[in-house]
Amino acid sequence: MTRAPGPQGGLILGSLSDFKADSLGFLSNAVRDYGDIVRFRFGPMTAHLINRPEYIEQVLSRNTANYDKATRSASRIAATTGDSLLSANQTAWKRHRRLIQPVFQPRCFDNVGSVIDSLMDPTLARWEAEGSIDIVDEMMQLVIAAAIKILFSSDIDPQRLNAALEVVLADTWRRIEAPLDGAMISPRLHRPAFKAAVRTIDEMVLSLIQNRRLLKDRPDDVLTRLLVAHETEGEVQLSDKELRDAAVTLLLAGHETTANALSWAFIHASGGFATANPAHIFAEAIRLHPSIWIVERRTIEDDRIAGYHIPRGSSVLISPYILHRHPDFWPDPERFDPSRFAGEQPRLRQAYMPFGLGQHRCVGLYLANKMAAHIIAAVFGRFELRLLPGQTLGALAGITLRHDQPVRMQVTRK
Ligand code: HEM
Repeated sequence: MTRAPGPQGGLILGSLSDFKADSLGFLSNAVRDYGDIVRFRFGPMTAHLINRPEYIEQVLSRNTANYDKATRSASRIAATTGDSLLSANQTAWKRHRRLIQPVFQPRCFDNVGSVIDSLMDPTLARWEAEGSIDIVDEMMQLVIAAAIKILFSSDIDPQRLNAALEVVLADTWRRIEAPLDGAMISPRLHRPAFKAAVRTIDEMVLSLIQNRRLLKDRPDDVLTRLLVAHETEGEVQLSDKELRDAAVTLLLAGHETTANALSWAFIHASGGFATANPAHIFAEAIRLHPSIWIVERRTIEDDRIAGYHIPRGSSVLISPYILHRHPDFWPDPERFDPSRFAGEQPRLRQAYMPFGLGQHRCVGLYLANKMAAHIIAAVFGRFELRLLPGQTLGALAGITLRHDQPVRMQVTRK
């Protein structure tokens, strides 16, 4: 059986240390040195990075029965989200997807514009008074406040929730990367900071749910729609625990992804693209900096991709970050150019998957794009943003593609 080419790595950990030291650099070098399918060993685990649309479609769209999400990452994430849409279990996932899909139709988000406008007015007035801002922190605060209002029509403390979500995501990524994770043996072995953050999230989200159950006149939002969602078979209403898991999943999956993508959009566009179409600015920002920079699947039975053997139980990795720089599809890939999205360019679209592909494709795609376009239009309608000099910008690949430090921008009234 033909093995795909790939680096040898160290005797015990294989390429794990190199991957941990600089994931994006390591994967970029791997496709440069070995091509569009690369075999690695991470400790005891075999993994393949696949980097052509047709290989990726095989895994995410055509042969989904052979690739599930029973991966290290999914099991670590489940420590916070419980049994939810991000869950590894295929039957549970199907049920959650069936419940959530209708709640996330475009028509459910007619209020996005008014919510964003109501938040932008005080935010932009403050920016003007302060003169310079940390765009990363601003987007984190803005998106969580918007998400709380859009999804739950609530004004629970966005800063407190944001802080707790950050701790949870950072700790989850630490455990995904660690060769051993005690918390998988017993939840008691979670770090105290993680446990405290989950307690805060639980307290905030559960009180939201309990209050909503008592309300006679319920707002028409995602929480109410989830609350009244019934299983098609059995008509059993979701329990508080199930609702909590669904709500936390949406916050976890939707907040940092959208906020980081937006800060990349402002950073890139401040280089002379502020008048471009906001949707194109956002699309190009998540080409270069897709918040979900890696997607993982587990191979159920032996398979072949591009003629190479993919052993059962091994991991398949797909990196939108690497694919979006593929020179066969993206001329001058490192250049930020929103006009790439101005017309229909089907060949490029094939190699573009910031929101994933196939049955697990992002449910929040429409919401994220709509929020982003509104926020970008509101900011550039009033201000010019410029990066303050003397900063080196680096991308940190955790659960989402973050900035490695605060990014300060100067705000000038147009
Ligand atoms: C720029 C913002 C966003 C990006 C780049 C993004 C990206 C992605 C990607 C790549 C996946 C597929 C993962 C996989 O196949 O394993 C995904 C799934 C998902 N996303 Fe998003 N997302 C964003 C915003 C949101 C928002 C706003 C929400 C909800 C409020 C959300 C909720 C979800 C959920 C629940 C899933 C799991 C779907 C499933 O497995 O069936 N995302 N997202």
